Amino acid sequence: MNHSEIPHSDLQLWHQIRPYFQVDLLQWFDIQARDLPWRRTKDPYRIWLSEMMLQQTRVDQAMPYYHAFLEAFPTVFDLAKAPLDAVLKRWEGLGYYARARNLHKAAKQIIANHNGIFPKTAEEALALPGIGPYSAAAILSIAYQVPLAVLDGNVMRVLARVLAFEEDIRLPQNRKTLWIWATRLLPTEYPGRFNEAIMELGATVCTPAKPDCRACPLQPACSAYRNNQQSALPCVSKKPKIPHYHIAIGLVVNNRGEYLISRRPDDGLLGGLWEFPGGKQEPNESLEETCKRELQEEMGIEVGITEKVALVKHAYTHFKITLHAFLCTLGRGTPVSANGQPFRWVMEDELEHFAFPKANVKVIEALRNRKSKPTLFDETN
Ligand code: ADE
Ligand code: SF4
Repeated sequence: MNHSEIPHSDLQLWHQIRPYFQVDLLQWFDIQARDLPWRRTKDPYRIWLSEMMLQQTRVDQAMPYYHAFLEAFPTVFDLAKAPLDAVLKRWEGLGYYARARNLHKAAKQIIANHNGIFPKTAEEALALPGIGPYSAAAILSIAYQVPLAVLDGNVMRVLARVLAFEEDIRLPQNRKTLWIWATRLLPTEYPGRFNEAIMELGATVCTPAKPDCRACPLQPACSAYRNNQQSALPCVSKKPKIPHYHIAIGLVVNNRGEYLISRRPDDGLLGGLWEFPGGKQEPNESLEETCKRELQEEMGIEVGITEKVALVKHAYTHFKITLHAFLCTLGRGTPVSANGQPFRWVMEDELEHFAFPKANVKVIEALRNRKSKPTLFDETN
C-alpha cells in the first residue's frame, strides 16, 4: 500500500514493523515453509482446490483428499464434466459438502464463461459459487500475484499480537481494522507469498497456545512479545449464550369442557396470537407452582393440576423455550385478564380456528392425541 494513504498516527509504527513483514517473514517462509503439494504448483485450479479444502479442514486431513481428487479430476474440464455424485464421492468424509457442490458448479461456470481458466479479477472470482472475500484474495494472490490481503483466523492472531490490538476480533469493524493493516503490510511484488507466509506463521509458530516466539521472524516487531501479552491476544468475546426459558402453561377446562385461551398484545413477540396462559419458571419453583402462580397473576384464577399433557421445545432467534403444558381444572375465581387482554373459553375442536404460536399448536396436537403420557415434541434439532 502506498504510504501516503496511511494516517499520520499509524505511520511510525508502520515504518517500524514493515521490514519484518516484508523481508524477515518472507525469508523465514522460504526456509521454513512446509513442503505442501499446492505450494509446488502454479496451476490456478490446484490452488483453488487447495483453498477450498483448507478453509474448514486441517492440512494433514486434507492432504490425501487433495491427491485423490486430482487423480480423479486432473483439470477443471474433468471436474466440470463429472457427475456431481462422483465429485461428492471424492469429498466423502471431508465434511461441509457444499464446498464440493460449489466447486463442481463453479467449474462449469469457468468452462462456460472463462475459457476454462480461473478468473483473474476479484469481481469475477466473487461471482463464482463458494468464493468469498477470503478465498478470492487467497487464490488470486497466490495464483496470479493480485495484491489482495487475506485475513483468516491465523492472520488475525498474528496481527493482533504484533500490534497489541486489544479490540474484540469478533466484531466486523475490528476485523476491518486488521484487514487494513494486512493491506498496508502487503508487499505488492509478492502478495501471494506474503499471504501464505503470514498464514503459515500463524499455523506453525504464532499458535493460539504457547506461540514459539524464539523462532519467530516478527519477534523484534511484536508488541505482544515485548509486553508478554501473547496469551491475552487476540481478544475474542464469548458467543453470547442464548437464554433458555422454561415456560409452564395451563390448559384450564371449565365445567362445560371449554379451554381458556388469551390473546397476546398486538405489539411485541407473537403479537396478536392466541395462547394458553402461563409464563416463565422462576428460580426455586416447580413447574406446577409456576403454572398455578401464573394463572393466578395473569387471570386471577386458582387451578388444580390434573396431568402434564406435553413438553415442547422451540427455538426462537434470540432464545429457546421449553413449554410445559398442564391440564388444569378451574378452582376458585372467574378469569379476569390482569393486563386487559381479551380471553375466551373455547371447545377443543374450535381451537383450530384461532391463530396460535407454533409451540402452542403442538400442545393442541398433544391434547388431541392425549393418552396417559405427556407428548414430547423437540423442534430444536
Ligand atoms: N412465550 C411466552 N409464553 C409463550 C407461550 N405460551 N407460547 C409460546 N411462546 C411463549
Ligand atoms: Fe506471535 Fe510471538 Fe511472533 Fe509475536 S513474537 S508474532 S506473539 S510468535
